[in-house]
Amino acid sequence: MSFIQKLKQGKKRPLFVLAPMADVTDVAFRTVIAEAASPDIFWTEFVSADGLIRATDVGKYKLKKDLLFDKELQRPIIVQLFSSTYQYMYEATKLCVELGFNGVDINMGCPDKSIEKQKCGAAMIKNPELAVEVIKACKDARRDFADENFSVSVKTRLGYNAVELDSWIPLLLEQELDLITIHARTRKEMSKVEANWDHVKTVVKMRDDWAENNPTKTIPLIFGNGDVVSVEDGFSKCKNFNADGSMIGRAMFGNPWFFKDIESKEKFIPTREDRIKTLIRQVEVFDKELGDVKSFAVMKKFFKTYMNGFEDAKEIREEIMRMESAGEVVEFFKRKVDTR
Ligand SMILES: Cc1cc2nc3c(=O)[nH]c(=O)nc-3n(C[C@H](O)[C@H](O)[C@H](O)COP(=O)(O)O)c2cc1C
Repeated sequence: MSFIQKLKQGKKRPLFVLAPMADVTDVAFRTVIAEAASPDIFWTEFVSADGLIRATDVGKYKLKKDLLFDKELQRPIIVQLFSSTYQYMYEATKLCVELGFNGVDINMGCPDKSIEKQKCGAAMIKNPELAVEVIKACKDARRDFADENFSVSVKTRLGYNAVELDSWIPLLLEQELDLITIHARTRKEMSKVEANWDHVKTVVKMRDDWAENNPTKTIPLIFGNGDVVSVEDGFSKCKNFNADGSMIGRAMFGNPWFFKDIESKEKFIPTREDRIKTLIRQVEVFDKELGDVKSFAVMKKFFKTYMNGFEDAKEIREEIMRMESAGEVVEFFKRKVDTR
């Protein structure tokens, strides 16, 4: 039994996990989340397994930056990989076991054309035999290099052009995954329509029926994903649609305190000081860990979300948006803004 099933058994509530988000859930953002309030499970951004194995040394160096994490604080943590090739997925999973990840998640939902061209992401839904192969690669690597605690999971959508649960979900269930996360939209819907959690409920029912007929097999947890705006909303969606947990994406923007509300009755409202200190901390970690490989523009999208909801937020925001380096931003806050 993987750590995810054990975690779920230990908690008498739905799990709340951090969604994988490219150029968002990097080591800098995960650091401030861990310091503010950890989710039940962290996720990395998605990373190309092919790149990790066969890129040039410079390319590998860059990609491995996406795999950085604090081994004490950012736990448990799942790495999200994509590939359509057994060998690369097998070798990349081995690498991730060596790096100390708690599990590997396979991206089967990304609608990006450059990813789909590689037959990855949502294109997997159209190539079930490839999906089976890459899942097998991860499970084989777990058998050869990890132990049963290491999880193998899939994050996917409802279907490609239309809802295809009847064909897609039984195939995934047969792979005996530890977790299936359902982003409750089709590939075609991108993120343009509201997530439809009725379909999450359907998947849970399919899982339960399947479990009844397959008592000796590994039963995956089912997490719902899409449009969860608060912990309260997550609790209510999991209850209404029978999900084992919810995965939180965009609601994290500017809100690394999101998961505080899981254990507390009162909604946490960050102060101006919380917001400024957290932004500084994230900028500093970004600069130290990622500054040599990522553009500072990646960090800038956080400025708007942190510098929000207090009196001089707009003024500060406009100033720092013009800056081009972490040093400038930190210096600005030290000199001009009272952060006490
Ligand atoms: C900026 C951004 C980057 C994303 N990157 C990934 C990714 O790397 N892997 C993945 O599976 N989904 C990715 N997603 C999708 C999210 O994980 C999630 O499925 C989606 O945002 C819906 O959840 P939400 O409504 O809670 O945001 C990304 C979404 C956003 C907004």
